Amino acid sequence: MQGCCGNKKALLEEIADEIRNCHKCGLSESRTNAVPGEGDPCASIVLIGEAPGYWEDRMGRPFVGAAGRLLNDILGKIGIRREEIFITNVLKCRPPGNRDPRPDEVRVCTPFLDRQLEIIRPEFIVTLGRHSTAYIFEKMNLKFYGISRVHGRIYEVKFPEWKCRVIPTYHPAAALYNVNLKEDILRDMLRLKENLSAFME
Ligand code: URA
Repeated sequence: MQGCCGNKKALLEEIADEIRNCHKCGLSESRTNAVPGEGDPCASIVLIGEAPGYWEDRMGRPFVGAAGRLLNDILGKIGIRREEIFITNVLKCRPPGNRDPRPDEVRVCTPFLDRQLEIIRPEFIVTLGRHSTAYIFEKMNLKFYGISRVHGRIYEVKFPEWKCRVIPTYHPAAALYNVNLKEDILRDMLRLKENLSAFME
């Protein structure tokens, strides 16, 4: 690992420790494990999900349940390995019964996500589902018309010190019982792959 990546790894590990010790909201009472996220500290691509589910809470790792297997399958189809990207969530702890994240939970938890993005500074962010898309769109002052309207489009966004492209797609859990949505995610991810290749040239 090169020096800069070693530094990023250390900074991400500091945040992960803070997340594991966080008691800023009630989700810390019901969690088994916090799920900070994982992957390459120097990744060109960051995937952002909604919140840990049952298996993620048990294992302390993102996307390891059924939705994770579907995501792995799609990543495999486009030739991207999980180890070369970074995967995280809007909320780092599981909402009981997998209910939707509440606005107060999003407010206290997302500074962790913001700091992760600021350290990694990826070229591409893929938002998985409406919650992570709504969060990133609001942060970037983009109008969010619903995931079915924006998925597969590429949004160029500027952070104060860096810029990247955001590609929203459906949440893999929504595609578990809907083959059409799985194909949509695959198509959106293929756009990501094409753009990544163009970016790398
Ligand atoms: N769903 C998510 O949004 N994130 C996970 O980590 C797992 C399932």
